[in-house]
Amino acid sequence: MITVIDGPAGSGKSSTARAVADKLKIEYLDSGALYRTATLLYLQAACDEAQFFQLLNKIKVTFSYYDQQFHVKVNDDAVTDQLRTPKVAQNVSHVAAMPRVRAFINDLMREAVANGVYIAEGRDLGTAVFPNADLKFFMKAALEERARRRYKERKPDNPELTLDEVKQNIEQRDHKDSNREADPLQKADDAIEIDTTHLSFEQQVEKICSHISD
Ligand code: CDP
Repeated sequence: MITVIDGPAGSGKSSTARAVADKLKIEYLDSGALYRTATLLYLQAACDEAQFFQLLNKIKVTFSYYDQQFHVKVNDDAVTDQLRTPKVAQNVSHVAAMPRVRAFINDLMREAVANGVYIAEGRDLGTAVFPNADLKFFMKAALEERARRRYKERKPDNPELTLDEVKQNIEQRDHKDSNREADPLQKADDAIEIDTTHLSFEQQVEKICSHISD
């Protein structure tokens, strides 16, 4: 069984999906973290795309959700703490637009989901990755509100960060994610749309849990 939530950055997907997973005791899959992992590897490898795809074929990416965090390992090394840096955020939409990167990550996700009950979140899960998902949601919120949320979340670990910088990054990623050729960010026809601009966190979680329990 799989429930998917798609939507742009800062719409509330991650925090909501984690809370739903905790409440219903199901697995959580953060597809953005996998794209961020590919981006980290791409930046570290500092090679051309063809060499990078060869490298992807040689490594093993594993993930699990515990202690309210989605953990990713490359071979045996934990990379979770390196996925949220400004450098990764600036480059992730470029790496995520590479069809071979998408194919690599889609395979990883489909394999995992075949063996459990999941709530997964991303940009194209309801359209391209799991078109037959049991339940689909599309979360959205006004740009100002999304930037404000993301800023509040990241500021404690990044004292230099400004609200403008966050807003710019979100706007640029939304644009690139929505306009790329391979599996762009879009709402599936059969997804339930939730605008979270004026919803409280508890209301968002409750809305999704009630649909799953129906
Ligand atoms: O947490 P936030 O919404 O800021 O982003 P994320 O979910 O960590 O995703 C980071 C980036 O990965 C997005 O901006 C997309 O470029 C890419 N992504 C994607 O292409 N497809 C997905 N299913 C999930 C993420």
